[in-house]
Amino acid sequence: MSTREKATEMVRRRYNRIAPLYDRMEGLVERSRYSEWRDLLWSKVEGTRILEVGVGTGKNLQYYPAGAEMIAIDLSEKMLERAKRKASEQKLEVHLQQMDVQKLEFADKSFDTVVASFVFCSVADPVRGMMEVKRVCKEGGKVVLMEHMRSPNRILNLFMDFVNLASVRIMGENVNRRTVDNVRKSGLEVEQVTNLAFGVFQLIEARKKAQRSESMIQSA
Ligand SMILES: C[S@@+](CC[C@H](N)C(=O)[O-])C[C@H]1O[C@@H](n2cnc3c(N)ncnc32)[C@H](O)[C@@H]1O
Repeated sequence: MSTREKATEMVRRRYNRIAPLYDRMEGLVERSRYSEWRDLLWSKVEGTRILEVGVGTGKNLQYYPAGAEMIAIDLSEKMLERAKRKASEQKLEVHLQQMDVQKLEFADKSFDTVVASFVFCSVADPVRGMMEVKRVCKEGGKVVLMEHMRSPNRILNLFMDFVNLASVRIMGENVNRRTVDNVRKSGLEVEQVTNLAFGVFQLIEARKKAQRSESMIQSA
């Protein structure tokens, strides 16, 4: 097993362990802030074939656009069980599958938009995960991420580095990653970054650039 595979397995086990508590742990912040941010996140989605990465317990299900073909994946089977239960309670048609974003089992250029909320802080190799997102996204397609990350404020970062020591161990979450840089490293084009709170919570809109065909390049 590679170091990345070992780290991924650890993340899977951690989320399996906290799955029964997850919704309760986040209840207050969900009601006070996250629900409003989820509205904004889903207002940015384009097209009709959409992939949600790291669906977790299914907190985004209620925001899925009507009429879209929805596919959602997660690494943790216990988180997914809860998402499946919610989907059936809400009578939603969504294909839920256990899958690692670092090894997506979809063909190239399959989706109009790929969405994730609070996921890339836990992915063992976030750049690899984002490269996979880019691969399965159609040319000109959109990627919308809501994440917590390293802030531009140095003092706040010292605090985040301290918090990170605990959050990685308990939740498998890194709260101090340079996520906007990671999106760029994957080759996606960052179009807009919206600060949701303290420069720590950000909404990232990125796009997979359409490739110019040989004939277009020659005639240019
Ligand atoms: C903090 S939770 C967020 C869940 C949900 N998106 C939300 O907004 O509540 C992070 C989720 O990412 C999933 N995850 C972590 N690493 C992953 C990976 N490599 N592939 C797919 N999902 C992953 C975890 O299992 C977990 O359900």
